[in-house]
Amino acid sequence: MSNPRILLIGPPGAGKGTQSKHIVETYGVEHITTGDALRANKDMETEFGKPREFMEKGELVPDPVVNEIVVAALEDADGFVLDGYPRNMSQAEYLDEQTDLDIVVLLDVGRDELVTRLTGRRVDPETGENYHVEYDMPDDEAVRDRLEQRDDDTEDVVTDRLDVYSENTEPLVEFYEDRGLLTRIDGDQTPDEVWHDLRLAIEDAQADA
Ligand code: AP5
Repeated sequence: MSNPRILLIGPPGAGKGTQSKHIVETYGVEHITTGDALRANKDMETEFGKPREFMEKGELVPDPVVNEIVVAALEDADGFVLDGYPRNMSQAEYLDEQTDLDIVVLLDVGRDELVTRLTGRRVDPETGENYHVEYDMPDDEAVRDRLEQRDDDTEDVVTDRLDVYSENTEPLVEFYEDRGLLTRIDGDQTPDEVWHDLRLAIEDAQADA
């Protein structure tokens, strides 16, 4: 059986990054995440300006910049989980020309919970590991002391990111539903419960392939 080609969609804070780690560990596929790639190249000069200028406002970085990141990553991938891409119809149509997908999973989470998760998220700059001020802080004091908040996790920017999601990304749900690829998972459960449901959905898709 070939390695799965998985797309995770869902609003900011739905748990795409958290669940992608499980997918990578379990299936050994590539994690293709435009968010991480852009954060690592925030100050790269492009003909549209620097990614930072869009990200700090919660806006989408122009399509040609992200399309280029994804197409390069797909070339090397034997199976993948796409996280954070596509984010609008034009990216979805571009992706359609580049590769087939085995399954698209929507992680469904209510808006209040998303705001709590994102504004409370803290990142270890040394490992990239995510924590949360209320329910998931590291035991190691040195790690606790170096945690940082992402620039776009402040309350104002989170509100803008959620609006950008509703306007640009939500239409993709219907796009993938029409293609018979979409599975919805309740992302409001604990991370382990979400992973349980997600793994079953991936196994079902592999069995059908
Ligand atoms: P990106 O990095 O992709 O951010 P995002 O989609 O907004 O996603 P997040 O990383 O914030 O959330 P997540 O769903 O991965 O949640 P996580 O697992 O971390 O994009 C950032 C920016 O880059 C964009 O705004 C845009 O400017 C630009 N960009 C990126 N891709 C682009 C594209 N294709 N086109 C144009 N521009 C693009 O979880 C969040 C928190 O919740 C964590 O603290 C975690 O511990 C906690 N948590 C996770 N699961 C659970 C659970 N089940 N229960 C309780 N807590 C949980």
